[in-house]
Amino acid sequence: MKDLLHDLGSNVAILGSQWGDEGKGKLVDALSPHFDIVCRSAGGANAGHTIVVDGKQVIFHLIPSSMLHPQVIGVIGNGTVVSIKDLSEEIESLEKGGLEVTSRIKLSLRAHIIFDYHKTIDQELENRKGTQKIGTTCRGIGPAYTDKISRMGIRCEDLLDTDLLREKIEYNCTWHNKNLGLKLDPAQEYESIMTVREKVKPLLADTRKFLHDEMKAGKRILFEGAQGFFLDIDHGTYPFVTSSSTGIGGVSTGLGIPPQNITGVIGIAKAYTTRVGSGPFPSELDNELGGQIREQGAEFGATTGRPRRCGWFDAVVVRNAIESNGINAINLTKLDVLSGLPEIKVVTQYLLDDKELFTVPTTRKANQKLELKYETFPGWEQSLSGMRKFEDMPPQAQAYVLGLEKLIHTPIRAIGIGQERSDLIFR
Ligand code: GDP
Ligand code: IMO
Ligand code: MG
Repeated sequence: MKDLLHDLGSNVAILGSQWGDEGKGKLVDALSPHFDIVCRSAGGANAGHTIVVDGKQVIFHLIPSSMLHPQVIGVIGNGTVVSIKDLSEEIESLEKGGLEVTSRIKLSLRAHIIFDYHKTIDQELENRKGTQKIGTTCRGIGPAYTDKISRMGIRCEDLLDTDLLREKIEYNCTWHNKNLGLKLDPAQEYESIMTVREKVKPLLADTRKFLHDEMKAGKRILFEGAQGFFLDIDHGTYPFVTSSSTGIGGVSTGLGIPPQNITGVIGIAKAYTTRVGSGPFPSELDNELGGQIREQGAEFGATTGRPRRCGWFDAVVVRNAIESNGINAINLTKLDVLSGLPEIKVVTQYLLDDKELFTVPTTRKANQKLELKYETFPGWEQSLSGMRKFEDMPPQAQAYVLGLEKLIHTPIRAIGIGQERSDLIFR
């Protein structure tokens, strides 16, 4: 781990390179002892980041996954969307478990608030889409970002002026009622936010200034990505995406940090691929084998509990994420889950009408016609459990890792072989 951290410098980003749930939270937690500040820059409580220590599981949604380490300050940046209610509940539940959180979190004054009405709209739009639904987490993410881009969003700073807050809530509810034919109740929304306002007021801060001051003082910062690059609003499988920039650009705009201050980028890639919700997934195994991987990998969503769709590792997807985000090193996760499979396939190339494609096509027609090229690797029988060195792994597992490295042209510097914090091999 020391070598990797040395190579990546003082401010490191950890980003999902597939469709989310790659195991970002686990690496953030494992690296946190070496950082002073850990930041979330995009998304909201649609994220579910799981940490397991001595058999005890903690799932973080909006709070950075570093909170088990008492020296770390957590920042929730301007690029996030925050349900004040969910945030207070998350804090409460962590504090009930004996962690001090309130004094260690800074919430940007500029982050946009997710109200209950955003969740109602999220659910309603999904229902109206019918078979075309995105399969969102129904946490109000899309509608809150929609209000932000429409310049009618309500930000955390608005919690400090209750008259203005009331006016804005009233305007927005009336607007959405008119446009969507809903019956949102502004008075109820206002009352509901007022019950949790006091709880989050102490967290509010100019997080941009805080981060720049801390960087000048030589503090080390970890940027915790949420979602995955193929859920990115621009680069993902639109419209089956989330509503934020999940890549490296989102880290800059979501915190007010210039790109050159991000000294290294780690991409997280599962040793196979999963996705929750609808949308194209070229390497999907919509069959018994996919079901077997789902069971072996316990692939059920950390936020919604939904079964995750499973498929082979897709080198086209990961190469695209590496290129677009300047990923220097990969943490390959859940390699242990593949133990026992007779053979393992990897998508190496996409062809459409004999022409190579470098990303997942988004039109239905192209996806139906898409031709996939595979490389097949021999599997291994042994469990990887408890292994601490790359060289101790079965030769076929080593060959799989080395084969992937070649296909993605990037070093795999960390390998996950189990859920526990310690189930991580660095090389
Ligand atoms: P995140 O959203 O990227 O933080 O990932 P999630 O927490 O949603 O999903 C990853 C799941 O895989 C969690 O249940 C983790 O505990 C688990 N996990 C992470 N790394 C490994 C690993 O190397 N092996 C196994 N078996 N499980 C892992
Ligand atoms: P983490 O950080 C996996 C997916 C949803 C849906 C789409 C849009 O845990 O990796 P949204 O509620 O954001 O409007 O839903 O994005 N999605 C995720 N899938 N992991 C996540 O986060 C996700 N966050 C959103 O399932 O397909
Ligand atoms: Mg997750």
